[in-house]
Amino acid sequence: MVLDVIMLLVAYPEWQARGRAEVLDVCGSELPNDAILRRMKVLTMIIHETLCLYPPVAFVVREALQDISFKRIEILKGTNIEIPIPILHQQPELWGQDTCQFDPERFAKGIAKACKVSSAYIQFGIGSRTCAGPNLAMIELKNFPVNPPEDEKRSSRQSKHTNV
Ligand code: HEM
Repeated sequence: MVLDVIMLLVAYPEWQARGRAEVLDVCGSELPNDAILRRMKVLTMIIHETLCLYPPVAFVVREALQDISFKRIEILKGTNIEIPIPILHQQPELWGQDTCQFDPERFAKGIAKACKVSSAYIQFGIGSRTCAGPNLAMIELKNFPVNPPEDEKRSSRQSKHTNV
């Protein structure tokens, strides 16, 4: 997931520049903490758009505990129902015609305004069995580009001095 964020920031230098400007503005010389990371609006938009285009989990799965009739489809007890997250995240009628384009701007006003039906954004699942760690996941995903691990910093410093 972190690699997806980095790959997209490399492919879209304008978003990389916006993200970097925000980090320098919000962090200044301080190390990021939870409160600082929560103020990173551009980074949040970038991560939501990345999770939307490349959801790390492919399906939300539910088992029918009884026979049910859903929109004239008869579902028998014991059937596994698989909801494909990437397909739901790329429906033009929900997200607009540019749904396959990387455009974090669609999350500028939050998740509710990014999609016609906000419950169609299910990168962390949906309902009572939704993911237990979305807050930790968001902190980790924001922390990496803001405060990369020591060996990443070292290798980026080294590459500045290497004529490759
Ligand atoms: C980008 C990171 C993550 C993504 C995309 C993700 C996504 C998901 C999804 C789609 C589900 C299934 C939800 C459903 O069936 O409705 C799930 C379940 C779960 N996730 Fe995550 N997750 C992430 C990170 C984490 C982290 C960091 C933790 C723990 C610290 C965590 C703990 C769990 C647990 C315990 C469940 C099972 C919940 C249940 O069945 O009641 N996840 N996650």
